[in-house]
Amino acid sequence: MKQSLQQEFKERYHKEAKKVYFSPGRVNLIGEHIDYNGGLVMPCAITFGTYLLVSPNDENIFRFRSLNFEDTLDVPLQDDYAKTGEKWFNYPLGVIEYFLKDGHQLRGLDMLFYGDIPISSGLSSSASIEVVTSYALNDLLNAGYSKLDLVKLSKSVENNFIGVNCGIMDQFAVAFGEKNKALMLNCDTLAYEAVDSNLGDYVLAIINTNKPRKLAESKYNERVRECQAALSALQVELDINYLCDIDTTTFDQHKHLITDQTIYKRAKHVVEENDRVKLAAKALSENNLAEFGRLMYASHDSLRDLYEVSGKELDTIEEYGKTDPNVAGSRMTGAGFGGCAIALVKEEAFESYSEAVIAYYTAKIGYAPSVYKSLIGNGVGVL
Ligand code: GLA
Repeated sequence: MKQSLQQEFKERYHKEAKKVYFSPGRVNLIGEHIDYNGGLVMPCAITFGTYLLVSPNDENIFRFRSLNFEDTLDVPLQDDYAKTGEKWFNYPLGVIEYFLKDGHQLRGLDMLFYGDIPISSGLSSSASIEVVTSYALNDLLNAGYSKLDLVKLSKSVENNFIGVNCGIMDQFAVAFGEKNKALMLNCDTLAYEAVDSNLGDYVLAIINTNKPRKLAESKYNERVRECQAALSALQVELDINYLCDIDTTTFDQHKHLITDQTIYKRAKHVVEENDRVKLAAKALSENNLAEFGRLMYASHDSLRDLYEVSGKELDTIEEYGKTDPNVAGSRMTGAGFGGCAIALVKEEAFESYSEAVIAYYTAKIGYAPSVYKSLIGNGVGVL
């Protein structure tokens, strides 16, 4: 892979790239729409991701090329950059702006990106490209940021340059991921533990709905605002900073404070989902995949009915899982509104699961999903 990418770099820039970096994408096993509410999440890095080949050029020009998109960008070194529509290069451009604003000297870069994460699939292609860029710049410039600094910096690019008020889960997972481990991350304290993702006889399937995620960003920001409204209502009686500072029992005792039904449903999902993550961590440590699977279904049902971020495509995949005895659990993963679902499938039955879910989904939705066997890989690094 590295060699063929070097060849592509040479064709475009007539020299070898100085260095090659890789950052993975992620799936989230459970704990959805929890990170920006200060709770627990359980993501893993996957083996799909984004490659970045880069060489400094000393011409005070930043050149952006991608093997996935035809659009290219050449921009001179300047004080400020603005986002251009929905273009892919906004992500690395935002990272470059951040480094410049933070006082680092950059004299131009030739860059080539290649990603094998299906685009708009909810597997964090955006966090992957942000983190691979910030990791590369930190390394090339000897800028001295810690990995956690790079995670925060990448999140702030997504929040302030791209305009999505995401939490920290995706950037954290793609930076700190470890092979065959899930990260139990507390999104308030940022304390985390890499736990064995020992799935026994099961494997993790990723099912891409292949539904373009339209409106996802505005709906995402709407959910963030709804959670803030719920928090403000509860703060009248409770001394808390995040919705996830309370458990289901405390929430039930104070739910009268939230008078708007929609806001109530959003908060109920968040508090209950955070409790589910604690149960899921226990189930995983006890190798109780049946219980883990039950929690996955419960998580999906809550995202569909209370948080309202699913859709008929994701629901169809979860619904199929419930009919198949070889599936322990299934749920949407990531922000929702299309994108991917995951399923815990008996390893020996993976092929038959894959055929059956494709047939079931195609009959209902009218086109086929893509099914992958997911491998849990390492976080960002140099190749
Ligand atoms: C997106 C965001 C994350 C997180 C998930 C939902 O992936 O980038 O911060 O909020 O949605 O759990």
